[in-house]
Amino acid sequence: MEREEWKSKTGFILASIGSAVGLGNIWRFPYIMNKAGGSGFLIPYIICVLLLGIPIMILEFATGRKFKSSIIKSFEKMGSSKFIAIFPVLINFLTLCYYIVIVGWVLGFLIMTITNSSTEFSYFIKTLSPTFFTLMSILIITFTVFLGVEKGIERISKIFMPLFFIILIILLMISLSYPGSAEGIKKLFAPDFSKLKEAKTWLLAAGQALFSLSVGLGIMITYGSYLSKKENIPSSSVIVAFSDTLIALINGIIIFSIISTFNVEIEQGSRLAFDVLPKLFSRMESGFIVQLIFFLLLFIAGITSAISMNEVSISNLMDELNWDRKKSTIASFLLLTPISLIISLNYSGYLASHKNLLEIFDHLFGTLFLILSTAIVCFVLSWNWNTKQLLEEVDIKLEGISKRFDRFFENEIFINLLRYIIPTILITLFLAELGV
Ligand code: PHE
Repeated sequence: MEREEWKSKTGFILASIGSAVGLGNIWRFPYIMNKAGGSGFLIPYIICVLLLGIPIMILEFATGRKFKSSIIKSFEKMGSSKFIAIFPVLINFLTLCYYIVIVGWVLGFLIMTITNSSTEFSYFIKTLSPTFFTLMSILIITFTVFLGVEKGIERISKIFMPLFFIILIILLMISLSYPGSAEGIKKLFAPDFSKLKEAKTWLLAAGQALFSLSVGLGIMITYGSYLSKKENIPSSSVIVAFSDTLIALINGIIIFSIISTFNVEIEQGSRLAFDVLPKLFSRMESGFIVQLIFFLLLFIAGITSAISMNEVSISNLMDELNWDRKKSTIASFLLLTPISLIISLNYSGYLASHKNLLEIFDHLFGTLFLILSTAIVCFVLSWNWNTKQLLEEVDIKLEGISKRFDRFFENEIFINLLRYIIPTILITLFLAELGV
């Protein structure tokens, strides 16, 4: 079977941005930035994006393209044990299992807004609606990957991502017109450099940068495996990381403009998106339109990330078991659906309600093991590639932004960063998260 390829560079970049830009950019970044030093937080955050995020992304794209395989086969082809690669694939799958439940809530709120039947989150969540919308979201991502790389993922990214940028800018302009916007921006950016002295700030920045860029789970290996030799990997990675950061910042400005206009405190996660903001929207004059745009934004962000996670399961099944796309997609659907529906029903109080599965999954797979997985992926890849081969694949001699990075690559700073510094930072982060 010949490997599928992205039809265009734009398609590849948009799909990768779609993976990176997710719920994390919208409901987590503004909160963290505000709590961890305002514009001061941007220093550790940008350093982490540059020093951790982009190098790992380059490494992942290069690996996928070189071996024309997803993570398990790539590990095997480079001479490492393929069993190690099962860990990131598993963590990626388990992250998807709860992530898609939240995407389901977003879809539910989007549909309720359109049909003018909005209810409060506390009421919505107690019904079977969230579970129904989770199933709908699973069907959407299943159908997208079923259509393949070019006809499914690339096409949906080419429609959704430009739409995302347009409505983001519209929402930005609306929110800047609010009376509290100047105050909100001041509050978001108010620098508190004393936070830079706290190790916690740096750990937070590193964790958020990795989660936000979708690295460490083999997603970018899979996306890189469909990339043609013509494309420049470093410049693509810089574009993806830059867009991801810019979108997070714009979104921070939007959220802070809204909340300070109504004088409420910033929250993070589902409380911000499903409780605080909808209540504020209902108090606004044209709140309906703002609410519609907001949930559409959140939905595109979430669904494109979920699609990328789903594609990892499918491409690994295809590579490892020699199944075709159809069979792999069905297998992934059959595995994903029961687990996600259980998580959803559990959250709604129908199943084992004394435990909160979604929170457990988020903490274990979306935080703790994501960090460990990134450390493993970075370590295995950087030690198994020899510098020369890696640099050849990264193709640093090409024109473009990467030209300026020549020395950075040639002096082996890049490879040493990947071999020693990044895994050490990640293991420290992992231990800190464990509370050791
Ligand atoms: N990057 C996505 C976000 O910011 C989440 C994600 C994490 C997606 C890991 C894929 C893998 O929400």
